[in-house]
Amino acid sequence: MQLNNYIGGTWQEAGGADYTAVLNPANGTELAQVRLSTKEDVSLAVKSAKEAQKKWALVPAPKRADFLYEIGRLMKEKKEHLSQVLTKEMGKVIEEARGEVQEGIDMAFYMAGEGRRMFGETVPSELQDKFAMSVRAPIGVVGLITPWNFPVAIATWKSFPAIVAGNTFIWKPATETPMMAYEMALIFEEAGLPAGVANIVFGSGAEVGTAMIEHPDVRVISFTGSTETGRHVAETGGRHLKKVSLEMGGKNAVIVMDDADIELAVEGILWSAFGTAGQRCTACSRVIVHTDVKEELEQKLVEAMKVLSIGDGMDESVKIGPVINQKALDKIHGYVGIGKDEGAKLLAGGHILTDGKLVDGHYYEPTLFTDVKWDSRLAQEEIFGPVVSLIEVSSLDEAIEVNNSVKFGLSSSIFSRDVNKVFRAQRDLDTGIVYVNAGTTGAEIHLPFGGTKGTGNGHRDSGVAALDVFTEWKSIYIDFSGKLQRAQIDTD
Ligand code: UN1
Repeated sequence: MQLNNYIGGTWQEAGGADYTAVLNPANGTELAQVRLSTKEDVSLAVKSAKEAQKKWALVPAPKRADFLYEIGRLMKEKKEHLSQVLTKEMGKVIEEARGEVQEGIDMAFYMAGEGRRMFGETVPSELQDKFAMSVRAPIGVVGLITPWNFPVAIATWKSFPAIVAGNTFIWKPATETPMMAYEMALIFEEAGLPAGVANIVFGSGAEVGTAMIEHPDVRVISFTGSTETGRHVAETGGRHLKKVSLEMGGKNAVIVMDDADIELAVEGILWSAFGTAGQRCTACSRVIVHTDVKEELEQKLVEAMKVLSIGDGMDESVKIGPVINQKALDKIHGYVGIGKDEGAKLLAGGHILTDGKLVDGHYYEPTLFTDVKWDSRLAQEEIFGPVVSLIEVSSLDEAIEVNNSVKFGLSSSIFSRDVNKVFRAQRDLDTGIVYVNAGTTGAEIHLPFGGTKGTGNGHRDSGVAALDVFTEWKSIYIDFSGKLQRAQIDTD
């Protein structure tokens, strides 16, 4: 199977000479071939998106929303198929894949609702017989660059608000997960989305991503990926005076206080640390534990980790799937080596798994370190795999300080039954998302998603906040006095 670009409502073969193979991370089977696009393919896509946008912007927003309702309905109808493609292509276990597809369905219906809201403001004018209001206006052609770890959900967080607001888009999915984008293109086509509103260009960040960021007609870039690449996107986008919305790394922590429900904390940690094999921006990668419950938590975590089944995510009984590729596996294992060198104590895991059926996939054993120093590399750098570091603290203040010591600020969590501690923590934890008595994952689509410091640059995906990325505010003054009235001067 060869995947082609979707441009202007037609399937077009990319112009590049190179191909990449899409491999199932669970067993190495080839799933598809993708021909990589060039700068010229991006130009073609932008041209078609630009042309389509003029008409699309004039379609009433509730009518634009009708397409999203249909897209949502089709996603619902094909939920099982989409989930299976997702598991085969990306590796997350099928139950989680279904959850991710559901997140996309939710986003379709939520953003479709915006077609009948998209509130602006009417405000009094300081002058007589003058009317003042602000409306959200579409921006034009927008560029979406999405990662492989949530290949459907994150794409819907960006593309659905973009189109309901009257923009058209060029989407470059991660090279590891083009099949999900292909599936979405089929759905856009079946939903009858007008040609040129949705365009998908397969290719590398260096060629396709850069061409999108540098193209003068792409006015917004919404990117989710690594901090390193995000910085480059912002630098290049900044030179072209573009609006750049970035969602990048995390080093998320669960705080377990001495008054916590320890059993619940164990469940929350396991789910948010090892779900998606730890490959979530929101994954729990540090556990900040109060001295008085450290030993108990360690024992219970090690016990619970023993029963986590690892394997191909298509098997319903498997809890932990593979990681995306060999490079990821090497990076994760490299960090385990760094942790050992730094003197952290390995309590569980720490191995690449190759036994039996696992031999052809990329599997890493869920791994737990303890006695980790808060300022060590293990505790500071994003690993993006199933590795957790326990850091001991003796007070809430210290826990918050340790949480805030990293350069990222996506998600954090506290387990405590003391309402005062909980309220202080939610105020003082420097992250865009805070959970109380739950792990660090599980964001819902109608709230803003994003983070502080090195995680982002002030923008948010999801929720109404997503509309801020994909609209310009337009302020409109209508003077019906029939005479010249000067603001700030003729006010008496
Ligand atoms: C990500 O990790 O990149 O909150 C996205 C969650 C999911 C989305 C995660 N709803 O974990």
